[in-house]
Amino acid sequence: MATQNVSEEQLQSQFTYIDAVARLLGDKHPKAYTHTFGCQQNEADTERIRGMLSEMGYEMTDTPDEADFILFNTCAVREHAEDRAFGNVGALRHLKKERAGIVIAMCGCMAQQEKNVEKIKKSYPQVNLLFGTHALWRFPSLLYRVLTEKKRVFDIGGEDDIAEGLPVLRAKGAKAWLSIMYGCNNFCTYCIVPYVRGRERSRRPEEIEKELRELVAAGYKEITLLGQNVNSYGKDLGIDVDFADLLRRLNAVPGDFWLRFMTSHPKDASPKLFSAMAECDKVAKQLHLPFQSGSDEILHRMNRRYTAEHYKSLIADARSKMPDITLSSDIIVGFPGETDEDFEQTLKLVQDTRFDLLFTFLYSPRTGTPAASYEDNATPQDKQRRFERLLKAQDEIVAEKQAAYQGKKLRLLVDGNAKGPEYPFTARTEGNLLVCVRGDDIKIGEFIEAEIEKTSLRCLFAHKL
Ligand code: SAH
Ligand code: SF4
Ligand code: F3S
Repeated sequence: MATQNVSEEQLQSQFTYIDAVARLLGDKHPKAYTHTFGCQQNEADTERIRGMLSEMGYEMTDTPDEADFILFNTCAVREHAEDRAFGNVGALRHLKKERAGIVIAMCGCMAQQEKNVEKIKKSYPQVNLLFGTHALWRFPSLLYRVLTEKKRVFDIGGEDDIAEGLPVLRAKGAKAWLSIMYGCNNFCTYCIVPYVRGRERSRRPEEIEKELRELVAAGYKEITLLGQNVNSYGKDLGIDVDFADLLRRLNAVPGDFWLRFMTSHPKDASPKLFSAMAECDKVAKQLHLPFQSGSDEILHRMNRRYTAEHYKSLIADARSKMPDITLSSDIIVGFPGETDEDFEQTLKLVQDTRFDLLFTFLYSPRTGTPAASYEDNATPQDKQRRFERLLKAQDEIVAEKQAAYQGKKLRLLVDGNAKGPEYPFTARTEGNLLVCVRGDDIKIGEFIEAEIEKTSLRCLFAHKL
């Protein structure tokens, strides 16, 4: 069945609740604080919630101590992310004692899980409101209930649908997130995401284009298209459109901006996609293509549905069409059953491919996923040793690759303030590498031409030309 949107009627009722909360709050101008864990998808969701809060009359604050409403948008992808969320919420107990009237809310991927709901009900009485990823668009009615009924509200129900037209309060600056699809169908055996985000569903291309035009008009210069597996975009729409078609359509929107996307899955990334990337001038020549492991045996047990050979052929095709492309990837070290030999293959893939950036994770068992019950013989020390070897190998590659930028003239997008006084701004290359820049008349949110003066492992240094 084709993806359903939340009906106009249901959405309208939420706008009615926004007004109702606004009336309750009157001219108090209460303050709201949000804290987001996890991936860009969660950041994009938080921006929607901030949009709703702001229409209700809340002012945003960066200080939880002065907030009347506190929200944690949580991530369940690894144990560490869950521990941090629980730690943060736990630390608010004292605040709640001092100011009983504040509302503490939790939402996102961790909140979507039954076991966490039970835990929060029992052990975190300071939490007034909990809602899952599927209930996000119902936030106004849920908050209204908390404020009027004076009792705890929990909602992890909802369908795999799409809510268009929710308010949004984006971060100011150069960059914006643009969700093109939600959910995931892949069920990689280690991963919790499909369980907490539901099945894949794509937004209609015209809705995405409309939002992109608004973002460009608002001055955003780097727009990142978001989905857990953008390469399967459109499959559920019942119309003849895929991700490469969408890229071409968005590339035709007038304006001076870079388009990025994440994440691609190697089983669905294709030469057609790389041709579209190469031919679209606004699509940044940058690809994040997680391979997770270099061992076919491990890939099979991860249910990734490609081989290391296939992965390498994709990289070769992308590089033949875009010789300067910047490549990054995700790797999991210590998946159950990973042997030293399996790990050597991961290391070899890293050394052969020479990525510009790697995100390496120690495997974290997730309750409810198949891999959580797989036999695991490697000791934590074995895993740590592998992890450190991988980091060291990658650092050597990055040092060499960064050094090659010395003296290059590049177009950069200035995106923030840097820490040091000598190079006061941060910027990104088209390949998404971090650059610290100096020079006269530099403004955040603008493209500049710059020359790289020196390099380090984590950052390039440049002056404006
Ligand atoms: N949809 C994206 C990424 C989702 S999560 C993709 O498929 O690439 C981001 C990364 O977290 C994954 O690529 C994986 O490397 C890592 N990850 C996911 N589950 C994990 C787990 N249980 N333990 C450790 N790392 C994990
Ligand atoms: Fe998780 Fe795999 Fe889906 Fe990525 S593709 S979100 S790793 S199940
Ligand atoms: Fe985490 Fe959910 Fe993203 S589990 S990585 S916030 S989709």
